[in-house]
Amino acid sequence: MIEQWSRKREILASLSNQQFVSGEELAKQAGVSRTAIGNHISSLEEYGVEIYSVKGKGYKLANPVSLINEEKLRSASSSRCFYFDELPSTNGFLLKHVEELSSGDICIAEYQSSGRGRRGRNWVSPYGCHLYCSMYWRLEQGMAQASGLSLVVACALVKALTSLGIDGLGVKWPNDIYLNGKKLAGVLIEMSGQADSECHLVIGVGINISMSQEQGDKIDQAWSDLSQSLVCPDKTDLAIALQKQLKSDLEQFQTEGLTPFLSRWAAVDIFMGKQVKLLMGDNEVRGICRGIDTTGAILLDTDEGVVPFVGGEISLRPS
Ligand code: BTN
Repeated sequence: MIEQWSRKREILASLSNQQFVSGEELAKQAGVSRTAIGNHISSLEEYGVEIYSVKGKGYKLANPVSLINEEKLRSASSSRCFYFDELPSTNGFLLKHVEELSSGDICIAEYQSSGRGRRGRNWVSPYGCHLYCSMYWRLEQGMAQASGLSLVVACALVKALTSLGIDGLGVKWPNDIYLNGKKLAGVLIEMSGQADSECHLVIGVGINISMSQEQGDKIDQAWSDLSQSLVCPDKTDLAIALQKQLKSDLEQFQTEGLTPFLSRWAAVDIFMGKQVKLLMGDNEVRGICRGIDTTGAILLDTDEGVVPFVGGEISLRPS
């Protein structure tokens, strides 16, 4: 299996300058037959990599594919980094191993066969196109301590991306990251353990880097990716910045709570001061968004005054 992936990685490296490369050339470089190249190309396509194949010209990547530099990632990190070509889900991997992990350990995969999104949705995870990363974090005082944590994760993501030169970022309560008004990244926090004693958190982050039209068509909401930004950071630099920022913000959150994050959130809240509706099951509340409070609840200015809400799905109210 590992050998198969190293061959595919070689092929992707040969195609990385976004030019057509003939099957014959790829076979020569890899020291395998043209049939073997054809099989690897088909398999990469099954993993979600879009590759143009033109008779007489060869193969070309439809979109750039960037892979993690494992050595660079490991040497930049003081925590453990588990890195895979493929996994069902990076959140699932860490959840299986919580007893052996320390806060700050991360898992990254280039492909997820069952990437998980919020509300039971699937997270489209084609090979090498985006960042799929999860971090383990232990809460000594139980789940109650987790309230508001998802907003901290969103603030950390914005800071890490901004430090790499990305402009036009925003957050949507409780933890979606937007780029120029479209969803760039999502966060899924999963927990295991007791409500009132030590509990294990797995914080999963998916950041779109280079989405092909075919993969993008599978997503049921407006999306953006980093390739649309003026600067598109290197994926390994992004993973390193994210791990550092997340660790430092989670440490601060554990000692100081959500207060230091309120102004960071307010500065990038895309719904602040706008008319919104909040869907909670069959209930719908309408009001003007007034930001968040120290528990992480969203504040809505309604007919009954400013009211905090802890759950639900927020959207802009059509005017
Ligand atoms: C959302 O629906 O907005 C949350 C998406 C979270 C996706 C990430 S990708 C890495 C980690 N592993 C998963 O299976 N899901 C999260």
